[in-house]
Amino acid sequence: MKLSTQRLFDDCYGKYAIAAVNVFTMEQVLGVFEAASVSRSPVIIQTTPVARDYAGATMIIAMIDAAAEIFPDVIYALHLDHGVEAHIDSALSSGKYSSVMIDASHESFEDNVQRTSAIVKKAHAHGIPVEAELGVLSGVEDDIDVSDSQAKYTKPEEVLAFVSQSHCDSLAIAVGTSHGAYKFAGKQGIRFDILAMIQEMLPKFPLVLHGGSAVNPYHVTRINGFGGSMMTGSRGVKDEEIQKAIPLGICKVNIATDLRILWTAVHREHFYLNPCLFDPIVPGKQYRKELIEMLVSKFELLGSKGKSCNFFGQSNEHLKLRNQ
Ligand code: 13P
Repeated sequence: MKLSTQRLFDDCYGKYAIAAVNVFTMEQVLGVFEAASVSRSPVIIQTTPVARDYAGATMIIAMIDAAAEIFPDVIYALHLDHGVEAHIDSALSSGKYSSVMIDASHESFEDNVQRTSAIVKKAHAHGIPVEAELGVLSGVEDDIDVSDSQAKYTKPEEVLAFVSQSHCDSLAIAVGTSHGAYKFAGKQGIRFDILAMIQEMLPKFPLVLHGGSAVNPYHVTRINGFGGSMMTGSRGVKDEEIQKAIPLGICKVNIATDLRILWTAVHREHFYLNPCLFDPIVPGKQYRKELIEMLVSKFELLGSKGKSCNFFGQSNEHLKLRNQ
């Protein structure tokens, strides 16, 4: 059952977080729904503009609709990740999305407010909540590539003004994570001091952690053991960091890289060990199986396992916008 993203946040705030999983392929769409069904966990399924372009928005949305029909017990929201105006217009007019993200984080504060509030106005007219971003994450995701020198932590002293001027419904913040497989060097990690100050400025307001992948060293070793050459020093967010972030207002944890690393590990291993095989179904099944296992443990980590029962009896009439 598709619900409003805001409804999911109202339930989880401060207690558990919702995994927001980026999908590109049929195996990923089915894997996310099956894992959510097995775990009885609410989930946010999200598409970037690149995911929408890969096979066409019609195709990816149809796959998600089909998975929702196969797994009617799954509580989910469909979110547009890292959109700009054209993608958001198309997502809003499709009537399929539960929420959209406007990523104007590279702009000045004033321009970010202005672009975000224009999107909020349009999206709220469709009954759709908006995630905005303040601060800039480094790393590579799809067609976004931000160097470490361009990255900026979110300034806690700006968040209240940003939210009240833009009227966004949730806020992605930069607290040290980055997109991709190379998040932290040395002892770096999430800046909990900044996160705690942001929550103090915005109590009860849903915060979003981009760059939430763990980058499991087992799969990096597996990739490199079967002919890959991922850089050593790849490192993601530790489980303890994710758990510590939840009571500080992180409601949504974005995960894309972990699915890609797993895909590469499974396929490299399969074709390395079976050089004569060329059937996509064999590694495809193995990928889905391992993806389900990985997501089931993510739901456990985020505390969302078993929480779907909190939503039964709810429907889209409960879609309510925080700022209207
Ligand atoms: P990862 O690269 O850590 O998976 O983050 C994905 C993300 O933030 C999508 O918006």
